[in-house]
Amino acid sequence: MLKNKNIVLGVTGGIAAYKCVDLVSRLRKKGAEVHVILTKGAQNFVAETAMREISGNSVVTSMWQDIPHYDVEHIALANLADLVLIAPATANLLAKAAAGMADDMLTTTLLATKAPVFFAPAMNSNMYENPVTQNNICALQQRGWHLIPPASGHLACGTDGIGRMPEPSELIEAVEGCFRPKCRSMAGLRVLVTAAGTREPIDPVRYIGNRSSGKMGYAIARAAAELGAEVTLISGPSALPVPPGMNVLQVESARDMRRLVLDAFSSSDIVIKAAAVSDYRVKNTSDHKIKKNDTELTLVLEKNPDILRELGQLKQPQQILVGFAAETQNLVQYAQSKLEKKNLDMIVANDVSNPKAGFNVDTNLIKLLKRDGSIEEIPLMSKKELAYVILSRVMELKNMNGAIE
Ligand code: CTP
Repeated sequence: MLKNKNIVLGVTGGIAAYKCVDLVSRLRKKGAEVHVILTKGAQNFVAETAMREISGNSVVTSMWQDIPHYDVEHIALANLADLVLIAPATANLLAKAAAGMADDMLTTTLLATKAPVFFAPAMNSNMYENPVTQNNICALQQRGWHLIPPASGHLACGTDGIGRMPEPSELIEAVEGCFRPKCRSMAGLRVLVTAAGTREPIDPVRYIGNRSSGKMGYAIARAAAELGAEVTLISGPSALPVPPGMNVLQVESARDMRRLVLDAFSSSDIVIKAAAVSDYRVKNTSDHKIKKNDTELTLVLEKNPDILRELGQLKQPQQILVGFAAETQNLVQYAQSKLEKKNLDMIVANDVSNPKAGFNVDTNLIKLLKRDGSIEEIPLMSKKELAYVILSRVMELKNMNGAIE
């Protein structure tokens, strides 16, 4: 997979830099061409001569050094790279990269490259968990960079906690994934996804709606299609572009959604209900625009069907049913009760009062609750990345399910 690939390895000033000698040696054994950039800090931990010997290439230590065979200037490595790996990535490097700074050869290369970028943070756990560092990581992930999460264990500062750079073999496994032919782990499965909010008419020009944008549901539908599934997306009104490569059905009201979902349900292997369905509709909708008067207007609302609950009753043992719980308080307790009442295999609980989670933002912060009572907290990440995390857990359930059948 790595044969003849140009890997630019940026090493920054953390104690874990010593592992990079082994990392470069392993990359070369896999057939990669390795080009090392050592920041000033890194040069305190690993010698340029060692890296030059082990990589078989000149090592870049400064913006201004003269390296004869790198064509021209400071962006030569950025253009040459098939992949850039920063290991270890210090908090300082992450902050500079997130801010778009270019004050040395590594940050300049990062700003100029179009190649995929992987970064392996390594630092003291308080520094890693500091919201400033977490925000920088989140910003880089939103830009499409790939995080290789640090491991927990004994740290160089003498404490135990999260912040250790993973072993070279694990770093290599992560970057190899980038060159693997696209994974089709959901091929042959029919996946039904609902997304966005429903609209309940009041009269021909007005409706009751909600703040759901459809971003989470659309991201799940796209990711499932990317993984090879045959996807049907049933969506309430959304400003998002219609995703390619799937069957997209547009609906307005909860009752429209119910009809289409029930039609598709029996032939679906996996159903993920991310839609924000209106629990009530207007009892007597007006055929004509309601004219204002001088007093109050009272709308009488009647209950809409709970689509997910119906699906829970119809569900066959081989089907996987996933719901969402959008809450502003008692997140776990309410989500747990929906998981049970609606007979779900898993529920995605999100606290929509958090500005980085829930409606109409690009990130989400969720907990995954399963029938076995487990609760998994997923760190803040983009909805696009989260879609793959959710699908990987769904596939674990599907595979367990298959094993039981
Ligand atoms: N849902 C549904 N039909 C409804 C209401 C909700 O299918 N009429 C689904 C949603 O798509 C979601 C899950 O049920 O997957 C939970 O939705 P949510 O609005 O969080 O909860 P409700 O069941 O409506 O309960 P409440 O409004 O009291 O929180």
